[in-house]
Parts: sequence; C-alpha cells; structure tokens
Amino acid sequence: MPKLIIDNIPVEVPEGTNVLEAARSIGIVIPHFCWHPALGRAGACRACAVKMLDGPVKGLQMSCMLPAQDGMVVSTTDAEAMAMRRSVIEWLMINHPHDCPVCDEGGECQLQDFTIAGGHGIRRYDGRKRTYNNQYLGEFIAHEMNRCIQCYRCVRFYQEYAGGTDFGVMGRAAMVYFGRQSDGPLESPFSGNLVDICPTGVFTDKTARFRARYWDYDMAPSICPHCSLGCNITPVARYRELLKVVARRNDRVNGWFICDRGRFPKANVNALDRPRQPLVDGKATSWDEALDALRERLNGFLELNGTQSLAIIGSPRMSMEGNTMAARLHKLLDTGKICYFSDSVHAGQTLEAVASLTPDNAASQEDVRQADLVAIVGSDLLAEAPMMALAVRQAWRNGAPVYVVGEETSTLFEYVAVASLSDIPLAEAKHPVLICGTNHVGSDIIDTAARNKAKLSFILDGPNAFGCALLSQEYGATPLSEAVASGKIKGLISFESDLTLELPAGIRVLAAADCRKTPLLSRAEIVLPSSAWVEMDGTFINNEGRAQRFKQVMEPGLPIKGLDPAGHPPRLHRNTPPGGEVLPTWRIIAKITERLGSEWIEDPLSDQWERLRELDAEGEGISVV
Ligand code: FES
Repeated sequence: MPKLIIDNIPVEVPEGTNVLEAARSIGIVIPHFCWHPALGRAGACRACAVKMLDGPVKGLQMSCMLPAQDGMVVSTTDAEAMAMRRSVIEWLMINHPHDCPVCDEGGECQLQDFTIAGGHGIRRYDGRKRTYNNQYLGEFIAHEMNRCIQCYRCVRFYQEYAGGTDFGVMGRAAMVYFGRQSDGPLESPFSGNLVDICPTGVFTDKTARFRARYWDYDMAPSICPHCSLGCNITPVARYRELLKVVARRNDRVNGWFICDRGRFPKANVNALDRPRQPLVDGKATSWDEALDALRERLNGFLELNGTQSLAIIGSPRMSMEGNTMAARLHKLLDTGKICYFSDSVHAGQTLEAVASLTPDNAASQEDVRQADLVAIVGSDLLAEAPMMALAVRQAWRNGAPVYVVGEETSTLFEYVAVASLSDIPLAEAKHPVLICGTNHVGSDIIDTAARNKAKLSFILDGPNAFGCALLSQEYGATPLSEAVASGKIKGLISFESDLTLELPAGIRVLAAADCRKTPLLSRAEIVLPSSAWVEMDGTFINNEGRAQRFKQVMEPGLPIKGLDPAGHPPRLHRNTPPGGEVLPTWRIIAKITERLGSEWIEDPLSDQWERLRELDAEGEGISVV
C-alpha cells in the first residue's frame, strides 16, 4: 500500500490507485474529464495536472496517469499546476458554444463545474468556433457535437466497455467527430450511458429534453424494477412526472451503469389512464366505499364458499412490504391459498434456484466481472438481463473464457459453445461463475457448481422473485395454476399480479390492486389503485439475495403536463393532487385488514423481515441468503 503526501495530508492507498484517485479519497477533487472510475485513464484531456514536489517523480504530471507510489509529495495547489489547468480548460472551451442556458446538461455538467473550479472565467479567444453537424441517434439520445471536448469517454464506453460497433470516433486534422457512420438509432442496449458518462452536453436524454433543471428535480435513491438484477438507479421526476432515470453507483451490483431497458421505460408510471381511483363494478368511488364494498362482498363470499375457496395473490413485481402484507392477509382470513407465482414450473425453478444459494456461492454482478471463467447455461443474457451480459463482457475483456451451454445470442463477448456442463474446464479456474436462466435450473447445475466451488447466478423473473420464493417457503404458497387446478378456488384477491394463465370464468376476482392496467384488473369487481414504485418506499430482493431499499421519488398524481393542453395545473383546492389517491399496495392491504377487524398496521415488515426496516437506501444492500 503506497504512502504519499497530498497537499500536506498523508494518505495510504491500495496498490494501483492513481494520484487523482488518491486525492479524491481524502476529499481533494482535481479537475478531470477523460478519467472515469469504470473506464480508467486515457490522458486525453490534460486537465488533471498536479505538481510532484518530491519523490520518485518530479515536476508537472497528469494525476490520472500516475500510479501512487511511496514517498510522493504532491501539490494540487501549486501555482504552475493551477496555471496549467486553467490554460487547458481555456483551450477546451475555445470551440465550445457556451450554450449552457439552452443545454440540458446545465446545472449537472462536469465541464461547467471544472471550468469554474479550474479558474477559467473570461473568454479571450475571438476567432471563429469550429462547428459540426449533429446526427439523429434514435428516439432516446440527442446529439450536440459542438459541445464536445474530445475526452473520448463516450467511445471508450460504447466500444470497449459495452462492445458496441455502430458508434465510434472519426477524425480529419482538427475535426474529431464522435458519432455513427450515418444517422440512425444507436444499436447498443446500453446507449443511454452515454448521457451519464459524457462530462458535457454532447449526449443528453431526448425523452426528458428541456423539461427541468437539476435544482428542479425530485430525486431519491432507487432500484430498477425491470428485471431481477436490482441495478441501482436515481429516477428523476418533476411535477408528478417521471422524467428520466440515471445510473447510481453500486460497486457490488451494477457498478456505474444501467441498461436502456431500465433507463427509458416511463410510460407505465406516467400513463394518464393508469388506475388512479378506486372502482366498484366499474364505477369510480372513494376509498372508504371501495373498502366497505370489499368487506361486504368478502364476508358474503366466505359465508357461501368458506375460507378455503379464496386465494390471495402476491407478485414477483411487488415489493417485500406488499408481499409480506399479502401473507398477513392470508393468515388473518385463513384462506385456502397464498400464491406468489402463476405457474408451477416457474415457481419450482425459482424456489430451487433460491434454495441452492448460500452466502458463499451467490454471485453478484461484481463477482461475474471478476470471474476467471464464466459458464452460461440456457440463457440469452442480453434479452433476459442485459446488465449481466455486460458483466460477463468485463470478465471476458479481462481474459476469462466464456462457455455457453444451449443457445446464447449475445454479441458482447466471444464464447465457446459446448454441449454440456461436463465439457467446461471448471476445475482449472480459481473463480468460476455459472449463470443460469431460471428456465434451466436443475440439480446437475447446482451439483456441478458445488463440486467445482463455482459461484452461481440465476436470472429470475421479476425484481422481487427472490423475495417471493422465500415467502413461498415461509407460508407454504402454492402456484396459482395448481390452486386453480385443484378446483377448490372460487375467488381471489390479487395484488400487482401479472397472471400468465387464463383464469377460468367461474373464478371471481373480488378485488385487484395495481398501478398498471392489467387484464386481471378488467375482471376485478373492485379495483384498488396502487402507487408506482417511484411513489413509495419499498424493498426488493435481487437475484443474488441482496435486499435493497428504494425510496419515494415523487408524489403520486396526474402529471401536470397531461392535465391541461395549456400546461397549467387545475385551479382546485383539495388535499391531494388530481389522480393522487393511489396508495402503496402494502397500505391498501393494511386498510383491508383493518376493515376486517385487525389492528392498525404501522410497518408492513414483521417477524424475520423486521431487519429490513433499517436498510440504508444508499448502501450496498444486505444479503438475506
Ligand atoms: Fe487526466 Fe484527462 S483526467 S488527462
């Protein structure tokens, strides 16, 4: 561990840390553009100059290019270093359009911050600025090349880190251009990261263009709900509309990036016609009337058919809070069944996968990135969980061989196709990881992993499928298809459920709670509108058994943009905004149990799940394996 002194502060850092990172570790931020923690150094921008006063290296140096070494004495405030940084930034700004007032990056722009921090304020160059034509890069990313400072972060991410081939850097003399050969949508499923990684406004999120400034945002740490990997995100909202989603760093999970599937879908949250008011037999009503109606119908149903004919349905897309409350309702009513999965194959495979994971063998995305051999069994990772494919690519870039059993269509890494697990030299690797699609769980995979001390990663179906598997074991849940096949179920109450099976016509859907318009909702006698994940706090357990907390980002309600073509909020005096009557599903269930005579429930997490109450949303999560 090298020991050095930076601005008179002694610091000890791990081997391989550069001087820029060493300074960051003690809170000294040196201006930088091309260096990025996930991409490493490029030495392209020359903005990170420091003066080496003593030690093995002397004089002005680029701090990102210099590994920290014993005995170094570094000054970040030396006059020569500061003059160099000021000059470099002035040069970088020569051709920049200075268009911050109309740039979406304004207020969250690294170039703005470091231009000021670097000491450049007055523009002296009065020549003609170099200009470019922009490209159409698809419906998600806006392109404004005039703002480019040639840091090469975009192309290093797109080509090297993410394996994209349709975007690159082209140059002639002083004209360096970052784009495609010709106009067209970016093909990489990780293209949205260009927005996060560009230190200025060359790439901005077209879907949120000109809608708000950084200081207008409603933001909170959150977890992506679009697959089972639990990537960390920061959703950004304004005026009750989800504007955009940006990646949030978690070194154990997604690192610095997210996929486009997690970044761009916002329609479900912002839909004007999503369930926003309780309905009884299709008629809008108040919460009190809806819950009274449910109590009456439920009592009538139970009197006629008995408690064993009722099923409570949870969902792998619902938070732990909602699913544990569904179990409490099941216990309170002593209903015949609690169901978390639609079909028995899916349920069986998920339970088997979850049961096979231990604290020692559960592989995080970081474990995959660090693996020295990766085997993929029966999963098209790019389609099922794109960020896992990106993690495999990093292992492959580090030299790990990748083996595929079955079909894999990813083009992110080269692989060797093999007929069976026994064809993979797992025993030769020190840190092998086996990745399986849920549809291919089997005792052979689990046994092979155990024999070879390989870590295991299963791609599950839903952001909280892992949690549902644990609750299934705890409460003896039955897959809905089995419950229906038994012929005993005559009615159900469902919470955020995406049923894949056709429900027999004779089964009553007494009530359904959801924030989406699902086919089940159209069959429900009573519709209970629930909050979307950005409108509440909650917990998901990801595919490796990591419980992670997501926080409320925005108040629920109709987006102001959708209410009035003139764009003005309605001039009404009321306690809740229009469309803001939705409730978190766990709170809906708490209200139902209260109506049925139970005590008021303050916190949905009880018994062994109480330990999740104190989860830090900004932490790395905790393992529940
Ligand atoms: Fe060091 Fe760009 S950050 S040269």
